[in-house]
Amino acid sequence: MKVAVVYNRDTRGVINVLGIQSREWYPEDTISKVVHALAKADHQVEAFAFDRYLLSKLKKFLPKLSKRQAPGIVFNLALGAQGKSRYSQLPALLELAGIPYTGSSPTGHLLSLDKVVAKQIFMASGIPTPNYRVFTNPDQSAQHLQHPLIVKPRGEAASLGLEIVNDDQALKEAVRVVLDDFKQPALVEEFIEGREVNVSVIGNENPRPLPVLELVLPDSEKAILTNEDKFHRTNRKITKICPAELPSETAAYIQKVAVQAFMALNIFDYGRVDIRLDKYHQPHVLEMNSMASLNPTSSFVQAAKKGGLSYNQLVNKILQVAIERYALEEPEIFGLRNKHLQSAPRV
Ligand SMILES: Nc1ncnc2c1ncn2[C@@H]1O[C@H](COP(=O)(O)OP(=O)(O)O)[C@@H](O)[C@H]1O
Ligand SMILES: [Mg+2]
Repeated sequence: MKVAVVYNRDTRGVINVLGIQSREWYPEDTISKVVHALAKADHQVEAFAFDRYLLSKLKKFLPKLSKRQAPGIVFNLALGAQGKSRYSQLPALLELAGIPYTGSSPTGHLLSLDKVVAKQIFMASGIPTPNYRVFTNPDQSAQHLQHPLIVKPRGEAASLGLEIVNDDQALKEAVRVVLDDFKQPALVEEFIEGREVNVSVIGNENPRPLPVLELVLPDSEKAILTNEDKFHRTNRKITKICPAELPSETAAYIQKVAVQAFMALNIFDYGRVDIRLDKYHQPHVLEMNSMASLNPTSSFVQAAKKGGLSYNQLVNKILQVAIERYALEEPEIFGLRNKHLQSAPRV
């Protein structure tokens, strides 16, 4: 099968630079690992930058959908170029062009990248998440929220702009920073003291939770995962333990909550749920990562390994569940009788 791996790098290939530029992109090393994993499974793979020329490049590379020949697909590694809905940009463009792709649709990405909308859906679905208020002005009151609080931009990722505050004056300052620097409302949440875990989920009809992974933060004044931690720009050592040391019923309950969050936000194929446990081991869902990192050192990759999937198997599993998802809607084109699909490794 032809697989186009699409990634973003910067805003050079856009028409105008408008709004906040994406601060996230995959390193070249991960892109080549994904290409390699797919090529090893006998796919015909090429990597493409996500820019305004993408559709004409894909038109040349991918076969036209037909019942007679194997379809092609995009493996989505693009986090978008700029603006509030950046994760949805590539999926929306591919929907327009009628090109299948891995991962969530624009809907799942929109619901996840807007942390406030995600929390509203969690609350409406009975999924535990910290109490919160949205601030559009630093003088708003925190009302019933109990300090310590954590302040974050409504729609960022990678721990950008996070601040823990212990009183109303500090809260005001932190909200002002988010409003000024990120040009978006601030999400103010109750800070959950306790262990930090995440659950990676894969699949669609029966989403499968991978083993719970714990991130052990060193004792220090910053009891959160910072942007520097995530990009290994600090000496601070975060240990990832998978499976997390938890009673098996607790782990099973956390996995169940993660799958509920995955389904509530309409995530397709794969996603990672970030969670804090309080002192009673009760999970509080912080957010959904609809573009969960596939970097080799990421939580998803580590949890997949514990779940029995090597890196190459994980990449091909994501492709497989995406194809199975399309096969349900378009069996004549994506039917699993197609010999090209049968050559993809089953895991
Ligand atoms: N309410 C909270 N209570 C405790 N820690 C939090 C809370 N919200 C965020 N954090 C910490 O900040 C990190 C990043 O927050 P998160 O909501 O996952 O945003 P993102 O990863 O998109 O920047 C979390 O992994 C956790 O360490
Ligand atoms: Mg997170």
